[in-house]
Amino acid sequence: MKISIFGLGYVGCVGMGCMADMGHKIIGVDINEEKVAMINDGHATIEEKDIDQLIKSGRKNDQIEATTNPQKAVLNTEISFICVGTPNLPNGHLDLRAIKSVAQSIGSALKNKNEYHIVVIRSTVTPGTNKKVGEIIEQESGKINNKEFAIVSNPEFLREGSAVQDFFSPPYTLIASEDQKALKKMKKLYQDLEGEVLTSDVKIAEMMKLVNNSFHALKVAFANEIGRLCNKMDADSQQLMDIFSKDTILNISPYYLKPGFAYGGSCLPKDLKALNLLSHDNYVDNPILKSVDKSNNIHIQHAIDTITNLEKTKISFLSITFKPGTDDLRFSPALEVVEYLLGKGYDIKVYDKNLNISKLIGKNKTFLMNKLPHINDILVNSIDRAVEFGEAIILSNKEEYISNYLRENPVNDSKHIVDFVGIASQFNIKNYHKIF
Ligand SMILES: NC(=O)c1ccc[n+]([C@@H]2O[C@H](COP(=O)([O-])OP(=O)(O)OC[C@H]3O[C@@H](n4cnc5c(N)ncnc54)[C@H](O)[C@@H]3O)[C@@H](O)[C@H]2O)c1
Repeated sequence: MKISIFGLGYVGCVGMGCMADMGHKIIGVDINEEKVAMINDGHATIEEKDIDQLIKSGRKNDQIEATTNPQKAVLNTEISFICVGTPNLPNGHLDLRAIKSVAQSIGSALKNKNEYHIVVIRSTVTPGTNKKVGEIIEQESGKINNKEFAIVSNPEFLREGSAVQDFFSPPYTLIASEDQKALKKMKKLYQDLEGEVLTSDVKIAEMMKLVNNSFHALKVAFANEIGRLCNKMDADSQQLMDIFSKDTILNISPYYLKPGFAYGGSCLPKDLKALNLLSHDNYVDNPILKSVDKSNNIHIQHAIDTITNLEKTKISFLSITFKPGTDDLRFSPALEVVEYLLGKGYDIKVYDKNLNISKLIGKNKTFLMNKLPHINDILVNSIDRAVEFGEAIILSNKEEYISNYLRENPVNDSKHIVDFVGIASQFNIKNYHKIF
């Protein structure tokens, strides 16, 4: 394919060398004349393993050239990659001015082109950029987005230091566009790379890199908080985290990584609190660990706000234990919500198939009686009764009995369903409200 690349820094230069190696013909564009000259002299613009050799051989085979002229690049290629920088503005937002400037140049060049053209946003951007770039190009070129040209969002996942290897072996390649023809061509371009080629909504592709990098930053900072604490305990942090990482069921895994309701139960809150106190007692400042509980409470408050905003007074809960399949109520976040609403004078009914008050014993019973001494007054013995009673019905656990019920019993359109766990969308429910 014939490809132009706007921005010849880390991402653009690596893309140029690697795609030339894959057999494509590349025209690079940069406003920096020095970088353009370097490429034309057969040198990479960056220091990175293997890239100089790739640029050198691409240039020698006549597959690579660079220019400061966007018109020339667009008119002689089928796909334009935007790889310009998007640094933070002083207020922290991403500076998308270089992206918009390239979109203008591409649009103005497309005025003089009759063939279909694909514009790929490879830079890290914020949601809405794909749409904005499409609008700018439509305005400049007078052409129609998703017909005469298309925009693809395709975040770059390479790391400096192993950029060439990362280009050829990404964890996956993510592409998103409103134009199927563009997606088909991009899948073909990437078919020989390692890792799956995934497609998604445009907004997801636009957010992906920000979410990935934020999670990576969180991992680094979390590990360092544990490291500082280990140091004080005279424990080997490397050994601890090595063993931590060997748990690929709960620790290094998708488990716990799907948005849902708040955590609770007898273990997570208790042990988090204990670790935080250990840090405190040893004068170790661990702000991430310290803020986890706060984040959880904000999520519970958000669930409460979602209910109270409905301005309904009769509220039914279809389960209140801390997770599905248990009668354990200790530190159940649903119980927090019930307690709050009762305190505000809401009329509450609760059904929970797993709960048999007469069989509750020990700490579980004490916890419930302390929190909700009048539980017997609000408990109903059939899900039908709870559903019939509530103007708003709360789904706080992914319980099979709740899903089965909703599948077999269409909910009256006058009722509001508040879904804490992401199950309501599969049923035909008119008024449903998600918390994430
Ligand atoms: N560096 C990384 O490891 C990495 C990895 C993944 C994603 N990204 C993202 O990719 C994007 C590019 O990052 P980078 O590190 O390659 O940036 P960079 O600063 O190394 O390179 C950007 C290049 O764009 C050029 N440029 C600016 N305006 C231009 C214009 N109007 N026309 C043509 N060229 C123009 C600059 O002269 C520069 O050479 C950023 O959004 C970044 O967040 C970077």
